[in-house]
Amino acid sequence: MAVNPLMLDLPESFESRRLLIRAPLWGDGVKVNEAVAESIDRLQPWMPWAQALPAVEESEADIRRARIQFLERKDMRFQLLSKETGMLVGCSGLHRIDWDSRKFEIGYWVRTSCEGQGFITEAAEAITNFAVRELQASRVEIRCDSRNTRSARVAERLGFTLEGILRNDARAVDGSLRDTMVFAKVRGVEFSPEGD
Ligand SMILES: CC(C)(COP(=O)(O)OP(=O)(O)OC[C@H]1O[C@@H](n2cnc3c(N)ncnc32)[C@H](O)[C@@H]1OP(=O)(O)O)[C@@H](O)C(=O)NCCC(=O)NCCS
Repeated sequence: MAVNPLMLDLPESFESRRLLIRAPLWGDGVKVNEAVAESIDRLQPWMPWAQALPAVEESEADIRRARIQFLERKDMRFQLLSKETGMLVGCSGLHRIDWDSRKFEIGYWVRTSCEGQGFITEAAEAITNFAVRELQASRVEIRCDSRNTRSARVAERLGFTLEGILRNDARAVDGSLRDTMVFAKVRGVEFSPEGD
């Protein structure tokens, strides 16, 4: 059914076992900048936006744009914060939103000191559930460069179905052509028609 996403009353945060998962807030830029600085070597091969370390003011401006987009329901970024320490563990979100078909794509990155601890699997599971229950998602996708095995493992661990590999789909950040793995969960197959 057609929806005006601005009229959706949505929580700005929810929790998983170890994480507070929340919309960006004015002032988050410092924390994000610190996490990106720590993780830049691991982000650079995959993330076009991580080719140079941003200034703190740029990170803050980016966060403010992300908050505005969240409020407009055009793109929903989520900050992943440790419930125990308050540290920014990484960022995730629902991107390339199609409200007509209720399709969402999950993206993510983790700060290097928090890699290998299951935080992203935990966050992506909670965000998928949020998309299914709160946004009535019909389809949730995870896309990654086929060489990005750590990212693909997150999708596999969560039971996403590999639907195909789009060959020579885009340019990678190093200029090479990349194949894109497309994983998805859809209503009625990987989650029930009722959204359970
Ligand atoms: C892709 C990326 C987010 C994956 O991070 P990650 O730390 O491997 O993912 P998770 O947080 O889910 O952790 C999974 C790892 O923790 C381990 N782990 C430990 N405790 C765990 C738990 N409670 N639950 C699940 N896994 C756990 C798993 O065994 C797994 O390790 P393995 O892959 O060596 O077997 C990270 O490599 C990254 O930020 N890369 C750069 C940015 C990027 O590529 N983003 C994706 C673009 S498509």
